[in-house]
Amino acid sequence: MNLESAPQGVVAGSIPLFAGHPARDLLPLDGIQGAIDAIWRGEGATRLFNYGDEQGNPELIEFLVKRLRRGEGLEIGPENLMIIGGSTWGVDMISDQLTQAGDVLLVDAPSYRDALHIFHDHRLELRDVPIDEGGILIAEMERTLRELEAGRRAPKFYYVVPNFQNPSGITMPKDRRRAVIELSRRYGFVIVEDDVYCDIRFGDRLPPSFYALAGGENVLRIGSFSKTLAPGLRIGWLIGAADRIAAFVGSGLLTMGGGANPFTAAIVAQYCRSGAWEAHLRWLREQYRARRDIALAALESLMPASVTCTRPRGGYFIWLGLPSSLRVDDLAAAARERNVYFAPGTGFFVDPADGLHHLRLSFSFLPLEDLRAGIEILGDLIRQRSR
Ligand SMILES: Cc1ncc(COP(=O)(O)O)c(C=O)c1O
Repeated sequence: MNLESAPQGVVAGSIPLFAGHPARDLLPLDGIQGAIDAIWRGEGATRLFNYGDEQGNPELIEFLVKRLRRGEGLEIGPENLMIIGGSTWGVDMISDQLTQAGDVLLVDAPSYRDALHIFHDHRLELRDVPIDEGGILIAEMERTLRELEAGRRAPKFYYVVPNFQNPSGITMPKDRRRAVIELSRRYGFVIVEDDVYCDIRFGDRLPPSFYALAGGENVLRIGSFSKTLAPGLRIGWLIGAADRIAAFVGSGLLTMGGGANPFTAAIVAQYCRSGAWEAHLRWLREQYRARRDIALAALESLMPASVTCTRPRGGYFIWLGLPSSLRVDDLAAAARERNVYFAPGTGFFVDPADGLHHLRLSFSFLPLEDLRAGIEILGDLIRQRSR
């Protein structure tokens, strides 16, 4: 595989087990080309090269609202959904609009590294709360909230990846979600639900979203086409109460820029409305499920028994626990020598020391032979170093 032009720090000829991107052979290039051809020939082509509607492409909004109403029974209308330039844009915009420097947020321990980066950019104070295989520990969350309250503080929001979490791959069950909503009402914080992996599920139905369980009250839910179509399109969506969406749409970011990425939003709208996205999703789930199975089988046969791993039922990631005698930075240095790169656990915690014995593997990006080879090399290195 030619990795030379791959972005995001992928070194040519290496095995990048960290890369949380869709695999190149899973990008529906022909379908996207077809959508571009169709809108290029369409009567509105010149419109696409101008500023767009502040709320985003109306056809895409209509498509997504209908899909969410039909698929999840969400009681939303077009006033509850806006188009954004990917989840990243949403996380940044929400931080910008809902917080001021010095405010507190709650996040999971571990949590998505790049979201932590955005929160640091906004000079926010982060309190992370431990998770288990069912997500955030409610008693610990409550303890943190009480501690903050004693200092006359409350978090502005709780940032959570509810399904197939990055980095752990876990999904929070319904009861836990309800308990979080109960706390959010009692302590008055917003829930920001970054749900970019919900469409990459390998089996059972998912629990209802926070948005659905809370009846839309005080929840902002983010979706994205990055994981199910192509990240380069930079298109996602944000769902919330009508007044919150109106406030975001009326912000300087949208009024000055004229809505998120009008040209690629039109491509995505055309692609989705033709039925191509649903068909692609069905195929994609099979592809990712096969990759997950191969990664788990390789971990089972090639890792020493002292290594633990999660068994995600969707998404892109597996979270590994190392023996306590082995530091992940030492393992990363040794792996680098063998041309294998992974995401050390240290990046996913507010205090990096909490991640010294964990790492994240991604099964989404690599060809199967590289995935297996990378896991085999890691297994060897762990065995050598934890004797
Ligand atoms: C939890 C989570 N949110 C957001 C993103 C980035 O999404 P987007 O490309 O839509 O900005 C990722 C990508 O890794 C992710 O894992």
